Amino acid sequence: MILDVCYGLGYNSAAAIEAVLAVNPNCRIELYGLELDPTVPLGAIAAQLLEIWPPSVQEVLVGLAEKQRFQAGNIDATLLIGDARQRVQELAGIKADVIFFDPFSPKHCPELWTVEFCEVVVGLLAPGGKLSTYSRSAAVRSAFLLAGLQIGTIPLGRPSESAHEWSQGTVAAWEEVGLLPLSKIEREHLQTRAAVPYRDPGLGDNAGAIVARREIEQRSSGLEASGSWRRRWKIL
Ligand SMILES: C[S@@+](CC[C@H](N)C(=O)[O-])C[C@H]1O[C@@H](n2cnc3c(N)ncnc32)[C@H](O)[C@@H]1O
Repeated sequence: MILDVCYGLGYNSAAAIEAVLAVNPNCRIELYGLELDPTVPLGAIAAQLLEIWPPSVQEVLVGLAEKQRFQAGNIDATLLIGDARQRVQELAGIKADVIFFDPFSPKHCPELWTVEFCEVVVGLLAPGGKLSTYSRSAAVRSAFLLAGLQIGTIPLGRPSESAHEWSQGTVAAWEEVGLLPLSKIEREHLQTRAAVPYRDPGLGDNAGAIVARREIEQRSSGLEASGSWRRRWKIL
């Protein structure tokens, strides 16, 4: 089972379906997507952005964009439109083998990176499942740790060209086995104020309130300022 948080154009789902079917064309795939704006998946059709996928994958994405549902053969997919913080509640009880976690950055969309939202999403992860996100933010990593997961890094896959390039994301799972350990720079990042997570106790606050709550917690925290960490690692 696949859960695609912030489905957007559907590219994460499409890549996953393509990869699974390449290994086992008969694999049963159950997929849930969460997306606020229905015009985004529809826009992918209009702008012909789905043509990069095989026809069998395009069919799934078109069904999800137009009817929020695709069911044929061994694929059963549903797209839930609306604020993920509310719609995710309808998925209680599912156990996803993989969760793609792809909101806009914490700066632009703090409401989907809070400890409380991460807890709900993490509750949908199967025992041996993996959650993957492009974010390497310390606040995001703290949120997943507080939600009960272990975290690993996604390395660059090439030599880094500057100190800014310490990772290209995070993989989280219930157990540490199989995760790539964080580097020293990443572990130290988690000891700074940048690691104070976003919080949204009622899962309904707006971005401004969530950011303000975090700033208050950061000011009263005894953690090292992230500026010192940056200077130590020559991150300008
Ligand atoms: C970075 S994009 C996702 C890209 C996507 N994974 C793809 O493959 O195209 C973030 C998406 O989050 C959606 N979004 C923003 N706020 C949301 C919310 N509160 N609930 C659900 N989706 C939201 C946006 O509409 C946008 O499509």
